[in-house]
Amino acid sequence: MLDKVKELIGDVKSFNATTKDEVEAFRIKYLGSKGLLKDLFSEFKNVDAAMRKDFGQALNNLKQSAEGKVAELNDALDSSTSEKSFYGDLTRPSEPIELGSRHPISLVKNQIIDVFNKIGFTVSEGPEIEDDWHNFTALNLPEYHPARDMQDTFFIEQSRGNFGTDILLRTHTSSVQVRYMEENQPPIRTISPGRVFRNEDISARAHCIFHQVEGLYIDTDVSFADLKQTLLYFTKEMFGKSKIRLRPSYFPFTEPSAEVDIYWGLETETDYRITKGTGWLEIMGCGMVDPNVLKNANIDPTKYSGYAFGMGIERIAMLLYQIPDIRMFYENDKRFLEQFKSVL
Ligand code: DAH
Repeated sequence: MLDKVKELIGDVKSFNATTKDEVEAFRIKYLGSKGLLKDLFSEFKNVDAAMRKDFGQALNNLKQSAEGKVAELNDALDSSTSEKSFYGDLTRPSEPIELGSRHPISLVKNQIIDVFNKIGFTVSEGPEIEDDWHNFTALNLPEYHPARDMQDTFFIEQSRGNFGTDILLRTHTSSVQVRYMEENQPPIRTISPGRVFRNEDISARAHCIFHQVEGLYIDTDVSFADLKQTLLYFTKEMFGKSKIRLRPSYFPFTEPSAEVDIYWGLETETDYRITKGTGWLEIMGCGMVDPNVLKNANIDPTKYSGYAFGMGIERIAMLLYQIPDIRMFYENDKRFLEQFKSVL
């Protein structure tokens, strides 16, 4: 009898379980109301008096071992399930981390900055909420000048008759030219990227909010040839195209002024469509800074000359990535934005 109890103690000690059900079955087998211990305790009265002490000790030992085993296994299973719910299944393959992407406007802006950085242009910025002086008057666009009609303006505060104090959303980044010249004396080489605003109807080709990059170069003896060479360098780096033409144009802040076309080619159907069958594409405005503008910004026009240019970032991004509608830039459609993941 004693041997049987000792054997059971050995069984209890070596028992292991992987589920709570197994632990419960074990508990019922040993400690349940019809379990082995109950039977053994009822055998107690049949045991020889001389053996009773040892038998009793062995039974207590078995009981404690069984109770201890149940508690120990339950604890172990509880902590392993709570670990699982905390960490999840540790053997599962890791979740793919979603990579974000830069917005195409930022990509193109950064590319333009890189190209001009290489030839010594710094980056400068100015406010989006601008005053009349920096957006118009200093740029040779005095009040009531008809050229102001070229840019429909969002006014924030229009002060009647109080010359030059209107507050508005800048219509172009040329305003930063003036601010930069007011703060810095030549030599000046700077580009100014930024957001601009015009009160225009929204369509596939026009938006009331868009982005420009302005360029400004002021030094002694700067000529139109310097401007042309810089533009040629830019179009080569940016588009891989090395044929440009400068068409005479008009901007109040430059004299002479020109529009820059690049020869895009006529190789594909898209080339035909975007160049309207000519092979040429207009990409920016430029010119030699008007001496009046230099004077307005406290730079001596008898000593210095310079050139300026301005381009639309959306337009360049549309060309580079064949984007058919300018509104796509502002819709935040993930299917559109995710296509730029591979571009750095
Ligand atoms: N500010 C002009 C526009 O928004 C673009 C421009 C043209 C800028 C000629 C210039 C320039 O600096 O020289 O249409």
